[in-house]
Amino acid sequence: MSSPRVEALRTTLREIYSPRDDLLFHGWHHITFVTRKSLEFAREFDVDVELLEAAALTHDLNFITNVKSSVDDGREIRAEVLSKAGFNEHEIPDIENLVHGSSTEFSGGDISDSSKVLSDADKLFKVLPVSPMILSARYITETKVDIEKWADRIIRDQKPLLDADKYFYTKMAKEKYLTWARLNLEWVEAVKQSLDDPDVQLFLKDCKDLGYI
Ligand SMILES: [Fe+2]
Repeated sequence: MSSPRVEALRTTLREIYSPRDDLLFHGWHHITFVTRKSLEFAREFDVDVELLEAAALTHDLNFITNVKSSVDDGREIRAEVLSKAGFNEHEIPDIENLVHGSSTEFSGGDISDSSKVLSDADKLFKVLPVSPMILSARYITETKVDIEKWADRIIRDQKPLLDADKYFYTKMAKEKYLTWARLNLEWVEAVKQSLDDPDVQLFLKDCKDLGYI
């Protein structure tokens, strides 16, 4: 059961997110998933669960104003909704630090246990086995993105972390979900490899002519 302040925050955020069905990877479905998983991974540590939940719920608010923005661009809107929900001037910077530390944009540093938990939940979403079916397919169809560039970006982001065994921080995420992370990378590498096959190239050309990609 969440605190009354978190419930108030959730209500405000649901209103902000509900008209935004364009946020395929960072919409309300992502926020609620990451929040649930953060709370699950938090059982491994002694962390302030209320602040963690508030951080998880607000961690991607920067995408509300600009889909190409950076996590720190959400500082102002985060402070606004947190203050409205009753979080004070000492707690808001703590939540901001928690969110900042969890971002993969700044990964590699010495981050708090709460940031580790949020980071793992956020990264888990990227490697869910159902995501290629539901999100990646739609993303490629809607944006007509170059598949090779899309694959290159994912490999560039995920491979170094997996190779160095740094994809997840928490024991729980490593034990339960590392297989999914590895599988996702293998799948993307196979996608990239398949682009060299002349018959796959012809198949993709047909898909393009049909407007699928
Ligand atoms: Fe996220």
